[in-house]
Amino acid sequence: MSKKIGILTSGGDCAGLNAVIRSVVHYADNLGWEVYGILNGTHGLLSDPPRARKLTPEEFDGTILRHGGTILGTMNKGNPFAFPMEDGTTKDLSDDILAGIAKLGLDSIIGIGGDGSFAILKQLADRGGFNLVGVPKTIDNDLGCTEMSVGFDTAVTVATEALDRLQPTAASHDRVMILEVMGRDAGHIALSAGIAGGADIILIPEIPYTLESIAEKIAKVKESGRNFALIVVSEAVKCENGQALEKEFADGQKRLGGIGDYLGEKIASMTGSETRVTVLGHVQRGGQPTYTDRMIATAFGVHAVDLIRNGAYGRMVAWQNRKVVDVKIEDAIATYQDVKPDDTLVHTARSLGICLGD
Ligand code: F6P
Repeated sequence: MSKKIGILTSGGDCAGLNAVIRSVVHYADNLGWEVYGILNGTHGLLSDPPRARKLTPEEFDGTILRHGGTILGTMNKGNPFAFPMEDGTTKDLSDDILAGIAKLGLDSIIGIGGDGSFAILKQLADRGGFNLVGVPKTIDNDLGCTEMSVGFDTAVTVATEALDRLQPTAASHDRVMILEVMGRDAGHIALSAGIAGGADIILIPEIPYTLESIAEKIAKVKESGRNFALIVVSEAVKCENGQALEKEFADGQKRLGGIGDYLGEKIASMTGSETRVTVLGHVQRGGQPTYTDRMIATAFGVHAVDLIRNGAYGRMVAWQNRKVVDVKIEDAIATYQDVKPDDTLVHTARSLGICLGD
């Protein structure tokens, strides 16, 4: 049966989003379905007429698969249930979004997002008028029920490469190099990149640290005859006294940042080491997706279409034991996936003598 489906990307971008869109478009076209790309997440549905365009396989001739970002655009602010208006108030615009979907005549939407986006999309779908299927993406890898979300592998690869580049300059100048990475409240990027990139110290929000144990580890490294040390720290790690570090932006929004500089000062004064800080930032989100991100993105796209084909709505595709499966969207949102104390990688790091700060 022919169908008309929509697809949108929502929340912060990452590498691999275009690979998901390409996969959906090609498979849907093989089934004789039409696919409409909704622009700028749910924001595209607020315009009249809605901002959306038909996506065809010709557009995805093999080039876009390789590109970072999202050809549809995305948005990580402006919850339609409490949309910020110009006068400073908020307004519930959910009816307008549903009207936009009706105008496009879409029976299903594939939402590519993280926990925040899925909470909103699910709330909209529960109001009726369209069927929702989710594809997980987030460099933070904090969505539950899936071992990997699109974008995570690329972010870790970029952070690992940063350590590869910091190591020779650290060694040349006898320095302690601190790399601050993204990840919000989950330390997956720091932990994975730290292990892969040969870090001496990895600090993640899930494991409290002391400055003494960091200084001790640096002293041990020096005693062993090595003249440099590499530290990876996750952006949500707090000051030793528990104070969170955030930066206020011109739009009044606060974002994580500053722990690298904080540690740099402390470590320099405690150990006497010359210390430098690199904040990797959005470099982790852009650029070409890795093989793994392209692979899971493509498999996710196919499974998302299969879910619509089978009428299995309200589900999110997921990666478990090297297979694509699907789970209830609410289960994925409810199970926050941070680094657990018994995580294989925590054991791996400790076994190698990598200091986790505790
Ligand atoms: O959730 C993805 C993420 O990249 C986080 O790791 C980071 O804290 C945040 O988004 C940055 O948001 P923005 O793009 O709004 O600066």
